[in-house]
Amino acid sequence: MTRRAVLSGTGSALPRTRVSNAELAKRVDTSDEWIVERTGIRFRHIAEPDETTGTLGAAAAKEALKAAGLEPSDIGLIIVATATPDNTFPATATKVQALIGAPDCIAFDVAAVCSGFLYAVSVADSMLRTGAAKHALVIGSETFSRILDWEDRTTCVLFGDGAGAIILSAEEVADEAGAKGRGILATRLHAEGQYCDMLYVDGGPSTTGTVGHVRMQGREVFRHAVTNLASVLGEVLADTGLSAEDVDWVVPHQANRRIIDATAKKLGLPAERVVLTVDQHANTSAASVPLALDLAVRDGRIKRGDLVVLEAMGGGFTWGAAVLRV
Ligand code: ACO
Repeated sequence: MTRRAVLSGTGSALPRTRVSNAELAKRVDTSDEWIVERTGIRFRHIAEPDETTGTLGAAAAKEALKAAGLEPSDIGLIIVATATPDNTFPATATKVQALIGAPDCIAFDVAAVCSGFLYAVSVADSMLRTGAAKHALVIGSETFSRILDWEDRTTCVLFGDGAGAIILSAEEVADEAGAKGRGILATRLHAEGQYCDMLYVDGGPSTTGTVGHVRMQGREVFRHAVTNLASVLGEVLADTGLSAEDVDWVVPHQANRRIIDATAKKLGLPAERVVLTVDQHANTSAASVPLALDLAVRDGRIKRGDLVVLEAMGGGFTWGAAVLRV
């Protein structure tokens, strides 16, 4: 028998206010046509003052607990992937812990921006397999609207707010089940810090003492994203001995429709097997993969036994992928 981290529940939460491209164009020098053509984005949700990374993360976590049939007291590990924590410290994971009423457990944040959820999944997978906990709550939650420069049309139209959560549970899987058995089969993570000025926030506690705003060299990000994502998907599938034909669903980071299409094409993955939410949510950074995963699980597309691939790339640059049998 091998201990594996198995998906036992998903949940998500979106801020109350939804903003269309046309509404955005009333206060930013842009147009619905430009945004749709370049990115595929049509709507984004923007957090109200009472909605924070912590409250959205907790709402998503409660949905995931319900789906898994678990109580907050069953959770032994909480990881929140975010680049927009409620406070510089403590970790937003501890706030989520308090909001859902989970007693003493392990709780910390992971900062890898848009790849944060993949990093968090990989860390949780390792910790569950080594026995640190029985059930882990892995959350991607962001209020990116708080760090956008609303005068910079090249970035502010691209992002939105939201949260997604999954529960991973340690289960013993028979060795002979191999890639047919449930659970996370492989994860791969990368970072190349020499590109850290291609996509960053121009502030922070240790530099400016301010929160700062998102800055991005869009064309460079685009170019690296397609190359890195296609390559990490190839690596993680090779780790499992599976190929693109075995994949039932790809749940990609929802940054840009063109990045998603180009990556799928490079790998020979048909568009019908790619879960898309970028049109409805825009880029919600670390929240985008679990948000899309929850949507596809709840609408019945992703079913028990399916082979699902998750991937993301973000500032750093950081990127990663995971293969799981649901
Ligand atoms: N509305 C209207 N016009 C705009 C806007 C806007 N919101 N933003 C830029 N423009 C204009 C520019 O000023 C420029 O005008 P000019 O030709 O008169 O100078 C023109 O549109 C083209 O600008 P580019 O920046 O060259 O546009 P490009 O085709 O590269 O598209 C985009 C920009 C959409 C940002 C693209 O580079 C991209 O998608 N990059 C990936 C970025 C991304 O997804 N980042 C997310 C975080 S990282 C990740 O998650 C993978």
